[in-house]
Formats: sequence, structure tokens, C-alpha cells
Amino acid sequence: MLTKRIKNMTPSVTVELTAKVADLRRQGVDVIALNVGEPDFNTPENISQAAKEAIDNGFTKYTAVPGIMELRQAICKKLREDNNVEYMPKEIIVSTGAMQALRNAVLTICEEGDEVILPTPCWVSYTEMIKLAESTPVLVEMSEETGFDLDVKKIKDAITDKTKAILLNTPNNPTGAVYSEEALKELGELAVKHNFYIIADEVYEKLVYDGRKHVSIAALSTAIKEKTIIINGLSKAYAMTGWRLGYGAGPEEIIRGMNSLQGHMTSGTNSITQKAAIEALLGPQDSIEYMRQQFDERRKYLLERLRNMNGIECANATGAFYLMPNISNIFGKIYNGKVIENSIDVSNFLLEEAHIAVVPGDAFESPNNVRIAYSNSLENIKEAIDRMEKALELLEDPQLSKSLS
Ligand SMILES: Cc1ncc(COP(=O)(O)O)c(C=O)c1O
Repeated sequence: MLTKRIKNMTPSVTVELTAKVADLRRQGVDVIALNVGEPDFNTPENISQAAKEAIDNGFTKYTAVPGIMELRQAICKKLREDNNVEYMPKEIIVSTGAMQALRNAVLTICEEGDEVILPTPCWVSYTEMIKLAESTPVLVEMSEETGFDLDVKKIKDAITDKTKAILLNTPNNPTGAVYSEEALKELGELAVKHNFYIIADEVYEKLVYDGRKHVSIAALSTAIKEKTIIINGLSKAYAMTGWRLGYGAGPEEIIRGMNSLQGHMTSGTNSITQKAAIEALLGPQDSIEYMRQQFDERRKYLLERLRNMNGIECANATGAFYLMPNISNIFGKIYNGKVIENSIDVSNFLLEEAHIAVVPGDAFESPNNVRIAYSNSLENIKEAIDRMEKALELLEDPQLSKSLS
């Protein structure tokens, strides 16, 4: 009954886990969810107010497919001031979340036979988006020893005459890595030389710590900009995940293609959200800095606790709101008479025993890790880590249990 396209899709592990957590909570279990990649803060009041005004003023009709001009102009201003890149409104498309902007971009430039390079660990949806475009994801593993930094040499080795694009995400979900300007420049030059596109997902750009700076690859030269489609959105920086607003910026011809596709799929983004987005981008930015500082405090706490935990190693991460501890030392240990074999078992064990939800690294092509999101209150994070520490003490060593039996 179902098409090959749908049958080939891997169900989202993060969505499945969220359903499991909801199930447990319905049974009255107090689960601490460190699996969800969304800020726990409310949307800043001035942004919500702009949406209320849009409704009261009857701004509730269809809009132009690529978004209202005032919003596209606000995005151009943001890109100029924050990212040092110059775009015109006709080079901007507003979409229903960065997710739609990403899928628009992939479907516009990639087709059957194309290869798309994907540095891993990577966000769960990238592989599926590439497969939907009948293209092949080429996974290139970044190394945990360097904090999953961008290894341009490895990417260079993966380029073939079928390479159509690279899907780049900095700051990175799930690793929290922030790529350096030097690495991005090197990559950009490769894209120009070998004529492939860079889809640059920058949704976590506002969340950088330890004095790191986010660099937009498109800002590094005119030639690189011509090969780049920037993807960004308001979900993460402005605590607006449910509002569904993202955007793409790139060469006019590509944006026109994305516009044609979106026109037939969903048309213009929610009109009320677009008005709220103008306020988000042009209004006061102090709540963004407040949230960033809160995330940073949690990150430092979590990193220290994880590093002091028996059997756990954790690379520092200076972006987004995720840490990726290495949990491979737990593999082979025994819980309730069963051997813990992989990151999925670790995640299930933590959910069952400690009632904390973390995402198995297998979901991100990173089998030795789990992803912990610190987009939760410090109080919850402290409680979760206490529980995790206690739960780990219950694990039995196979050698020990053999000699006891
Ligand atoms: C790397 C990355 N890109 C894009 C998105 C999607 O963002 P949006 O809510 O704007 O669709 C997410 C959400 O988790 C993400 O982690």
C-alpha cells in the first residue's frame, strides 16, 4: 500500500522516545525529559504581544508564498548585522520552520543519483530529507577526540563527481560543536573548487559559549556565498518552537525554486507568526542573552557532573544545548540479568531505572554516545544526574557476576 519513499523512511527515534515518555507520565511516573531539543522558556512577551495585535488587526489572511516583504526585509537586516552577509528580499524565503526551509533546499537542488555529504554525528532528519530527494547521504564521521570538530580533510576525501551538496550544521545538533572560521573557509573553498552547494543550518547560532563566535560560511567570500544556502529560524534562539518559523537565504534562482515548491506544498507561513517574527528580529534582544546565560550555567554544571561520573567520558561542547557523553564503557555490563549492548539499551536502562530520557547516539550515527539536552531547568538537571549516578551503581560487571554465581 505504501510507497517505497515512505517505506524507506526510518522512524524518528526522538519522536518515538517522546511517545514513550508521555506513556510513562500517563502512568504517573515522574520522568525528567532530557531528550527534547527545545528551550524550556516561554516566548518573550513582546513577541507574543505582536502576534495578539496581528489577530486583533485582522492580519489573518494568506500571505505571499515567500513571506511578507516587511519580514524578509527584517531578515536581510539581521543577516547583514549579525552574520555580515548581504541579501535582497528576493533572495529570502520564509518557511514553516527551518525544517521546511531545509527540505525545500534539498528538494530544489538534489535529485536521483546525487550524493550529499553529511558530517556525523548529525541531526536525525537530514538523512531522511536526502533520501526523499532520491539522493544518497554520504556519512563522514567526525572524531570525538577533537570534540566532533569539522574535519575538512575527511570531507575532501568523500567528494566525488556526484557530490551535489554538503549539509552543514554549526553550532551542531547533537554534538554541540562550533566550527572554526578556518575550517569553514577551507570547506567553502572546496565547495567552490568542486562545484557543490553548502546547505548551512545555523538554527543554533545564538547559543555559543566559552567566548566562541558563530561564523556564517556565506560571509567568508562572494564565491562561497554563491554556493551557500543559509537556513535559520526562530525556534531555538527565541523559544518559538511551536510558532513554526524558519527561513532560507541564497542565490535568487535557488530561492525561486524553493518558492515554487513551497507554493504547491504549504504556501505562505502562518500570517500571525510572521508578524511575531518581525518583532522577534527587530525588537529588544535582551531575553536572548538571558536564555543563553541560563543554558551556559546548565552546560557547565552538567559537563562537570558527567566528567566526574564513573565510566563516563564527555567532550566539551561550546554550542547549542546538547552534550554527547561517551557511554561505551557501560556496554557489556548487566542490568536485571540482561547485557547492555548498545546506546539504545543505555537509553532504555536510564528511562526504566532512573526515569530520565536521553536520546541514544545510534539515532545520530554515533553509537558510543547518548545525547543529553540541557534545555531543562537546573533543578531538573541536578535531580536527573543524581538519579543517573545512582542507577549506574546498580550495573553489574559480567566478570564479577560470573564469579559470584
Ligand atoms: C539542527 C536542526 N535544524 C533544524 C531544526 C528544525 O527547526 P524548526 O523548529 O525551525 O523547524 C532542528 C530542530 O530540532 C535542529 O535541531
